[in-house]
Amino acid sequence: MPSDRVIIFDTTLRDGEQSPGCSMHTAEKLEIASALVELGVDVIEAGFPIASPGDFEAVQAIARQFGDRGTTICGLARCRNEDIDRAGAALKDAMHRRIHVFLATSSIHRQHKLKMDKPEIIQRAVESVQRAKGLCDDIEFSPEDAARTELDFLTEVVEKAIDAGATTVNIPDTVGYATPSQYFAVISHLKQHVRNIERAVISTHCHDDLGLAVANSLAGLEAGARQVECTINGLGERAGNAALEEIVMALATRQDYYHLETRINAKRLCATSRLVSKITGMLVQRNKAIVGQNAFAHEAGIHQHGMLQERTTYEIMRPEDVGFTGSNLVLGKHSGRHAFRDRLVHLGYDLDEPTLEKVFGDFIALCDKKKNVYDADIAAIVENQVVDAPDRWKLISFHTSAGTGSVPTATIQLQEEGKSVICDAVIGDGPIDAVFNALERITGVKARLQNFQVRSLTVGTDSQGEVLVEIACNNQVYHGKAASTDIIEASTHAYLRALNKAAANPYTNRPLHAQHE
Ligand code: KIV
Ligand code: ZN
Repeated sequence: MPSDRVIIFDTTLRDGEQSPGCSMHTAEKLEIASALVELGVDVIEAGFPIASPGDFEAVQAIARQFGDRGTTICGLARCRNEDIDRAGAALKDAMHRRIHVFLATSSIHRQHKLKMDKPEIIQRAVESVQRAKGLCDDIEFSPEDAARTELDFLTEVVEKAIDAGATTVNIPDTVGYATPSQYFAVISHLKQHVRNIERAVISTHCHDDLGLAVANSLAGLEAGARQVECTINGLGERAGNAALEEIVMALATRQDYYHLETRINAKRLCATSRLVSKITGMLVQRNKAIVGQNAFAHEAGIHQHGMLQERTTYEIMRPEDVGFTGSNLVLGKHSGRHAFRDRLVHLGYDLDEPTLEKVFGDFIALCDKKKNVYDADIAAIVENQVVDAPDRWKLISFHTSAGTGSVPTATIQLQEEGKSVICDAVIGDGPIDAVFNALERITGVKARLQNFQVRSLTVGTDSQGEVLVEIACNNQVYHGKAASTDIIEASTHAYLRALNKAAANPYTNRPLHAQHE
């Protein structure tokens, strides 16, 4: 590997999935894994196989489907024999596979969580790396909470892990406590003092509790790390991980400064971001760098004036370089299939014929409903086709009535897989409340609405409304997202999507992943 090449290790499906309400099913994980392969990530951390049968099945399916495409598939394991063996079993069909073992090293974790002293930590780490090495060549070792670990002890653990066979040593800032210059100093120290450091790649893994994950990761690269662990949209535990799109574009845009390369096809960044947002139901904030809806919007007159003269006055990246879909006016309904397909390709979508047919039909229907159809509308139509967890209930029809002096009522028809259509009419505080009550009554899934957001996808009163719902059910959180020119219809689909996810989760009462020891 050339010394200026940075390995992009994506952990959206593992650390990202640890965000409350972001757990995904195998079909959804496969869809994201496929997008990550297209995006060009080097390593996909597909899950934590010991965490549940569902996690094992997803890692195995991803290993089988994508493990021979030049992307390495990785599974996480604590330093325990059963974890390591389970990870090895899930990954065994992948040609390119990696086992990632981790053990906390900071004094706080040693004392309060593990109740182990330093020699015990070293012994456990070494034995675990050796055991994993018996199952695959490519081994990553993470001293959890490394950024708060005494430097001399961290140096010793890392050196012993490399001697035991680790080929990547990851230095997590597990709690997002580090600052850029301190993290730079940690990586520099390891580069200088770990005797065998040339035999392993140093990796960064930074959490965003202080909003410093990307800055810390970049500082790590400056100090000599050559792998970055990151997630799409910065998803992850608590405040999340370093955002992949920000790292990649910082390196690309400031090539003059970093002199580092990645293998990422940046034109797919926005499409991948939208897919992850659609599947997890986690909205991307409008002003999010690179992939937010306002990332390339110039509002101030003085900026617009400058942009018209010369775009580089106020633009450091071109929106098309990251596959950004803004408010570009697209084709009308008379433009035809061919031009429509070209537009999809330009937006980063490569659809098979049957899906293209359906999407084109939805596009024509949308053209009948609204005057101007924008790229963002097209993206929403495509995303409505994305496979969710196999849906148990499908919406057949809905009707609401509401108004001054009348009782808001919703009449809903749902069909449960393989059964006949059920119809129910329910009242509520308003039409959306009535819809949600009706959906719950028909499905029998009791949920508590925790968050409900509507925002317009583009401009104009005929814009599609994008609805996000977050529900709590049996101590788990589920998201649903949908878009339509009718916000009651979008709300109905979004709520049903969340209920379907809740109904399909056989591990509803299991604790969330990564119960670290
Ligand atoms: O944040 C962390 O320490 C982790 C480890 C499992 C690498 O996610
Ligand atoms: Zn983490």
